Amino acid sequence: MARFWVCVAGAGFFLAYLVLHSHICGSSLPLRLHFAFKFSWRAEEILYRLDVDWPTYSEYFTGATFCVAVDSLNELVYVAQRGDNIPKVLVFTEDGYFLRAWNYTVDTPHGIFAASTLHEQSVWITDVGSGSYGHTVKKYNSFGDLVQILGTPGKKGTGLNPLQFDNPAELFVEDTGDIYIVDGDGGLNNRLIKLSQDFMILWLRGENGTEPAKFNIPHSVTVDSVGRVWVADRGNRRIQVFDKDTGEWLGAWNDCFTEEGPSAVRFTPDGKRLIIAQLNLSRLLITAAPPVGNIGNCSVISTIQLADQVLPHLLDVSQKTGAIYVAEIGAKQVQKYVPVNSYFSSFSS
Ligand SMILES: *[C@@H]1O[C@H](CO)[C@@H](O)[C@H](O)[C@H]1NC(C)=O
Ligand SMILES: *[C@@H]1O[C@H](CO)[C@@H](O)[C@H](O)[C@H]1NC(C)=O
Ligand SMILES: *[C@@H]1O[C@H](CO)[C@@H](O)[C@H](O)[C@H]1NC(C)=O
Ligand SMILES: *[C@@H]1O[C@H](CO)[C@@H](O)[C@H](O)[C@H]1NC(C)=O
Repeated sequence: MARFWVCVAGAGFFLAYLVLHSHICGSSLPLRLHFAFKFSWRAEEILYRLDVDWPTYSEYFTGATFCVAVDSLNELVYVAQRGDNIPKVLVFTEDGYFLRAWNYTVDTPHGIFAASTLHEQSVWITDVGSGSYGHTVKKYNSFGDLVQILGTPGKKGTGLNPLQFDNPAELFVEDTGDIYIVDGDGGLNNRLIKLSQDFMILWLRGENGTEPAKFNIPHSVTVDSVGRVWVADRGNRRIQVFDKDTGEWLGAWNDCFTEEGPSAVRFTPDGKRLIIAQLNLSRLLITAAPPVGNIGNCSVISTIQLADQVLPHLLDVSQKTGAIYVAEIGAKQVQKYVPVNSYFSSFSS
């Protein structure tokens, strides 16, 4: 007698895959047919799948995992978590092996960025703590030794000389060493600051408000390959874009955020997609990034719906493999999403 498994999966409105798998059991069992249907009525592509084997052991996550950064050059993943008597920073390989932890000079991490060149590996952390290390943006080497402190440790403020932060949310560091900081995650400041590699202020966009180039909780920042700075202006439910040399306002995306503002922004290695997190919706949006010039309107290509209450806070994308690492403060873990094969090939071509 035969046993059949028939699986029908609908991957889009116009697309259905039929996989018929059968084998002969050779016993007196009755003929059984198993049907499994999964229809998705959105005409969307499935671009990523969860890598359930990352990391190899999840017991290392012992706090609220607020942020994650990939050092694509050295294939390392840095996770910062909050909590008492726990290591604040965990270092993994991109393969998911735990390497080491740090537990000093980080008070309350919010955002993290790994900046690596052939000469230097560094990790930057924004610290929103109220203790003696708080209200700062700090640079570490890859072993957790503190190399540089920006801001006035332990003292929140709005000053520019000396520079002060309140709740610096995140930062992005270019290969040139130029630094973009969004400050912040609620509190005194709602601004975007560009610093040179020797920490001089190059330009600043910095007022509370809903008008163009003003912010309400600028939460995440990234820079594309054609000189535009993208800011997740979470409280205003939009992404705002600026010229990286002049700070000039270039436009905003509102359409995608009627339900909730964006909390994280990062580009895919080819620069064609912007990956966006929406915290309370527990959702990632994969949007089409315009190649040059006018940013146009927001256009969603695909979504990754995470489980309820996972709360993706910040994320990073490996510029080598295209994998997305998501720091989930609700689920208290970091998850890795890898491009599915057909999409992956576009990065290696
Ligand atoms: C943190 O570091 C201190 C000093 O090195 C050490 O005594 C302590 O055990 C560490 N705690 C954790 C949770 O790693
Ligand atoms: C911006 O808004 C926050 C929160 O409402 C407030 O505390 C702060 O003083 C404002 N900053 C400026 C520069 O108006
Ligand atoms: C998410 O929900 C919480 C609780 O309702 C709220 O305080 C917070 O502002 C929301 N965050 C965003 C980004 O909408
Ligand atoms: C964006 O959408 C609005 C209407 O939703 C439309 O008026 C406008 O022309 C669009 N802009 C671009 C650049 O496509």
